[in-house]
This record gives sequence, structure tokens and C-alpha cells, in this order.
Amino acid sequence: MPNPPGGGTNPLLDGLRIEPTPEPCALVIFGASGDLTRRKLLPALYQLSRGQRLPARFTVIGVARSEMSDDVFRQHFHDSLKEFAGLKQPDDVSNALARGMRYVQGEMDDPALYQRLRGLLNEEGAPHGVLFYLAVPPSVYGPVVERLGAAGLARAEDGRGWRRVIVEKPFGTDLASAQALNQLLHQHLDESQVFRIDHYLGKETVQNLLVFRFANGMFEPVWNRRYIDHVQITAAETVGVERRASYYEGAGALRDMVQNHLMQVLALIAMEPPITFSAENVRDRKLDALVSIQPILDSGSGNVVRAQYGAGWVNGAEVPGYREEEGVSPQSTTDTYVALRLQLDSWRWAGVPFYVRTGKRLPKRTTEIAIQFRRPPLHIFKRISPTAITSNLLIVNVQPDEGISLRFEAKLPGARMQFAPVMMNFRYGSAFGRPVPEAYETLLLDAMLGDPTLFARHDFVESSWALITPVHEAWAASGATEIPAYEAGEWGPEEADAMMKADGRRWRTL
Ligand code: BG6
Repeated sequence: MPNPPGGGTNPLLDGLRIEPTPEPCALVIFGASGDLTRRKLLPALYQLSRGQRLPARFTVIGVARSEMSDDVFRQHFHDSLKEFAGLKQPDDVSNALARGMRYVQGEMDDPALYQRLRGLLNEEGAPHGVLFYLAVPPSVYGPVVERLGAAGLARAEDGRGWRRVIVEKPFGTDLASAQALNQLLHQHLDESQVFRIDHYLGKETVQNLLVFRFANGMFEPVWNRRYIDHVQITAAETVGVERRASYYEGAGALRDMVQNHLMQVLALIAMEPPITFSAENVRDRKLDALVSIQPILDSGSGNVVRAQYGAGWVNGAEVPGYREEEGVSPQSTTDTYVALRLQLDSWRWAGVPFYVRTGKRLPKRTTEIAIQFRRPPLHIFKRISPTAITSNLLIVNVQPDEGISLRFEAKLPGARMQFAPVMMNFRYGSAFGRPVPEAYETLLLDAMLGDPTLFARHDFVESSWALITPVHEAWAASGATEIPAYEAGEWGPEEADAMMKADGRRWRTL
């Protein structure tokens, strides 16, 4: 950004490296009139352009079924900025970007659409790189990729440029469908051309896990079963199913949040140090961590709790139960909350449970990782201060209020030897004095630069499904017509608390 608040005056910004800019390219968005494009992609492009991160020659081609002229698509862009980037009036940056926007209408399975697309790309000077973004429903991924392949658009004609495809989530609905989708992609594209998006990996705080762990000498030696008691990962949302019942009914919290986002987060916490910060090294070590997770149902079904929200109050407003939401079956057994106890079979983590929970209609929107350390082996002060010592706790606030906090014991001022837990806090906002970029900005840019580090590799996605699919199968086989419930605005069902209690632990109060 040209004038970040505090930019240039904050000493922490001094000496930052010059950021790389992608080669001239075109971004082709399939699903250009859809929600994702409006809410995330177009605003992200604007922010990238403001920050001078886009190449000098850059074209956006929108593709969708609706009839639209180039100008109407440009207006769509300006409207999206008004709504989602807080830009009341077009400015020089948005106008310049809009001038490079084109639109092609067509049915996604119609080969003629791809010929028109090819013609348009040629008109735009046959860009060196073309990034295709599949912002369409998953049922359309196959047809688009096949037609791109058949039209010769999946390979650069001169052999020197590049063609890449960003695939949105959900990537499959179980192991078999994810494998089938990977096979189809690999028929037309090399793995190096496929960028499977998981927007959690684009979050600044999630990326920072790598820096925190591997650019600091003091945390790594204690990052293991000797010092860590357990890990809690929480992704809590206050929203309900919103207008997404048609998707969510078939998904549920385990597919929607755990299989992708939370497994990625867990892998970053649990992975071994990579040899280098190359995409393949990092992704290899993440995969190792993932495959070390014991099958969830191995020791019975006690490692997983699912639940659904009933009517209640969230943020002072009365909200309906999940089964009363528009488009939801009154008999639905879809999970809107899930809690898991995961055990990793690895030298580093043997015996350290990773507890993961996520839910909709919880009291607060917050995503955090809490690393709970073991208590000191000896309470040497117990004669003079019988109060129990709290264990050290490291909290990574993924969102909102991004930052990291460390809890430790301190002596209360005064003549007596008494202590209390205190917090040492790092906050992105105050430390760096500039807004944290949106995940989609980072990820779009990385895909244009050809850096897949923050994208899910085919084997990670499949291994994650291999872990989750047996749980879905067991749920389906149980034939349950009711699942545990929690009132909207509460922290999940009793069963999730009982799972922790059985281990002598508690969920953190957030
Ligand atoms: C999406 C899920 O992938 O992530 C949504 O489909 C969920 O159901 C969202 O609300 C959460 O993302 P964030 O960035 O708000 O934590």
C-alpha cells in the first residue's frame, strides 16, 4: 500500500525486502458473477494493485453463465469494492484495474466458450502466464478442467509461459471423491500447475506459525511431549448456516472446517522442522505430521463429538435452531459443531493430545491455538504460598485481534511471596502498525508467482480425507436420527466437556 498508516515511521518496517512482482499475466475467473468473486477475489485484486503487487501488464477475464458486457463486469467490480472494500467511489487504482477487465459469457461445458476465451487471450497479447481460478461449484471443476485441456489452454503454447489452476474448496466430499478429482486434474495438469486453496494458509497468523517456530531458537527445544501437556485448537463462529444450507447440509462442520483448515493448522504446529523453506520440504513435513495422526475411531468413538445448534441467543439477538434454518431439513443430523481428540504417533508428540473444536453459533468469533505446557515438576514455594501454580500457556490468536500471548507466573508485589498468572502480549496491529492483508491477497499473489508453499498438495488433501472419512462412515452407519444439541450462544454440547473431563482437562474459556 502506498501510505500504510504508520508506514515508513515504524522501525520494524525498516529493511523489509523488496517484494517480488509476478510476470505479466491474465487471471481468468470461472464463476465471475458469484459470491466468492464479489466478496473476496475482486477486493483482493484491488488491494494487491494498491500495494503495487500486480504486474504492469495484467488482465482479468471474468467467465460466467450470465449475459454481461465488459462494462457491466467492470461495474460489478466497482460495486464489489463499494460493498467489501469500503471504497465509496472508484479511484485511480480501481479505474486502472477495471480498464484491463474483460468478460466472456458461456456454459462451462460448452467447448465454444473455450475457443472464445482463447481468442480473448490472444487479443490481450497472449499473456506469458495465465491463472485460471475455479470459483465455481465443485461439480463444475471436472468439466472446466477437461475443456481447458481439450482446448489446449492448460499448456503454454510457446512452452515458456505458464498455466496454473486454482481449485477452490471443497476438494471432494470424502476420500474417494478427492482421489477422483486429483486423478482428473492430473490428466490435464502437472501437480506443479495445481493450486488447491485453503484460505487458512493465507492468514498472516497461520503463516507466522512457521516463523515463530523455526526462526526463533527458544521455542523449538520445548516444542515436544517433554514440555507440552496438550494443544487446543478452537475455531468458533457466531454465524449460523447463513444462506448456504444447500451446501452445508451435505457438508457439516467436520468436512467444512476440520478436514481442511484445522488439519492444516495442526500440521503446522506438529510438523518437524523442514530442511529448507522450499514448498516441497515444508509440505513434506506437514504431510508427515498429518499421517502420524492415529485413526480417530481406533480406540472407539470417544475421540469425536458432533452436535447441532438449537435456538438461542447470539450477540443479543434471538436466532433459530439449525433445523429451522431456511433450506435445512427438519430432520437434519448435520453437525454444526465437532470436537476431536487426536493422538499423534510420533517421537515428538506421543502422549500429547491435540484437541480440536469448531462450531457455528457459538458465543464469540475467535480462532486460537493454545499450547498448554506442563507444570513445573516441583512446587518449591508450596509452604509459603499454597496456591496452585498455573501452567505456562502459549496462545496464538489467529483471529480476530491477531497476535501471540504467553502466560507465566509472576510474584504479586508486596511483602508476601504470592504469585499470579500474567500475560506477555504481542499484537500485530500495534507491533507493525499496518493492517494484516486478507488471505486471498496473499494466495492470489503466490499463485501468480508460482509459489505453492501455502497451497494444499494432493497427498495432504487425500490423507486428511483418509482420516475423516471413516468418521462420516460410522455416523452414517449408526443411522442416528438425533445428535447431541447445544443452544445457540453456548460453547457446544455437554458431551464435548465430558470428553475433556475424562482426560482431567477442560476446554479453555474464551
Ligand atoms: C469456510 C467455511 O471455508 O471458512 C465457512 O466454508 C466458514 O463455513 C469459513 O465460515 C470460516 O473462515 P474464516 O476465515 O471466517 O475463519
